[in-house]
Amino acid sequence: MDKTFDMFWETEVPENELIISRTDLKGIITYVNETFARISGYKPEELIGKPHNIIRHPDMPKSIFKELWEAIKQGKTWRGYVKNLRRDKGYYWVYAEISGVYKDGQLVEYKSMRSPVSKEKKKEMQNLYDKMREEEGGDVRVVMYLPKKVYDKIEELSQEWDISGEEVLERLLNHFKT
Ligand SMILES: Cc1cc2nc3c(=O)[nH]c(=O)nc-3n(C[C@H](O)[C@H](O)[C@H](O)COP(=O)(O)O)c2cc1C
Repeated sequence: MDKTFDMFWETEVPENELIISRTDLKGIITYVNETFARISGYKPEELIGKPHNIIRHPDMPKSIFKELWEAIKQGKTWRGYVKNLRRDKGYYWVYAEISGVYKDGQLVEYKSMRSPVSKEKKKEMQNLYDKMREEEGGDVRVVMYLPKKVYDKIEELSQEWDISGEEVLERLLNHFKT
């Protein structure tokens, strides 16, 4: 099972390479370029045929994607900052431009191109998205320092019960509440 506490390694997005993906009209990935695959930590063949939310990061507020889909379904281009989840649970920030692909005037697919984000902008967007998630009633991101024996116990229960670290904490809290 993946460790749920290993989520804090950032991958830098290169300045001079395009990061490209395309999806069908339902958001299933139909194409990724080499750079997209490398940055997200997948092989192209592991991504093609999967929903694009395979790289959705839990820090992203729901409302951002709602806004994105509303825009592109209306034929508009959506531009915005996205924190993505790598295969190894690390992350990377991109500024994304998502729009329709047309063939003989018909919307057939969606495409996305991405560029790097400055350190200042990442900070600003992280704070904004943390606030938005909280307002939406989503997950709160917490960094904690735990004594090793407490951490080991959570890991042990996580394996014994075959659930994530978060779920172990939730189960224990529910138990002691009643
Ligand atoms: C062309 C295209 C590119 C997308 N790129 C991303 C992306 O890089 N990261 C992401 O989390 N969602 C991306 N999405 C949105 C996902 O389809 C999805 O809506 C999002 O991950 C949230 O997941 P959910 O809709 O299952 O809640 C993209 C959608 C399209 C159409």
